[in-house]
Amino acid sequence: MHFFLDTAEVEEIRKGLDLGILDGVTTNPTLVAKTGRPFREVIEEICSMVPGPVSAEVVSLDTEGMIREGKTVAEWAENIVVKIPITTEGLKAINALSREGVRINTTLVFNPLQALMAAKAGAAYVSPFLGRLDDISTPSLGLVADIVGIFNNFGYETEVICASVRHPVHIVECARLGADIATMPYAVLEKLIKHPLTDAGIKGFLSDWEKVPDKPF
Ligand code: G3P
Repeated sequence: MHFFLDTAEVEEIRKGLDLGILDGVTTNPTLVAKTGRPFREVIEEICSMVPGPVSAEVVSLDTEGMIREGKTVAEWAENIVVKIPITTEGLKAINALSREGVRINTTLVFNPLQALMAAKAGAAYVSPFLGRLDDISTPSLGLVADIVGIFNNFGYETEVICASVRHPVHIVECARLGADIATMPYAVLEKLIKHPLTDAGIKGFLSDWEKVPDKPF
């Protein structure tokens, strides 16, 4: 399973890279706006730091505009993935850009048919949004299970990115369901390795170690 950070903050990405398990980054206009930095500058910096895929989102609503923006962004770095929302116009842009070899991350996916349409159009990735569904009392994990199952049924190579992740249980469940990737805020990534019993265990071992005679270190 691959882990991406869902952020445009380079400091968070640096900390993620230090852990040695970071496979890519996803951004969206909201995350870029939070940095207060120019779009191209921040995306190019992230692409130079991260060897894996980096998603950058288009903002046009018409197919022509999405294709134009997608082609522009795709030229900024080799590891760019163009993020396009799953609308009718978006589907046409996904089709056109994928046929030209541009890798697409289909965003704002909330039902399995949107994911299937994106896969048929040649998208490299689909991003079901978990937290935003849970927020409106719609369990999100069934969506992930449906998409993974449907892609397996037909052998689609489109990878499933679990997005809008809010907590570690989302990650466990996505891993159990066989999702290819989870993209998460740094605060969630940090929590994945924590357990109070691990900390308590270390404390106990260190205190007992003090009683060992002639310690070699
Ligand atoms: O980047 C897409 C998605 O992960 C956004 O998550 O927390 O704004 O619902 P959130």
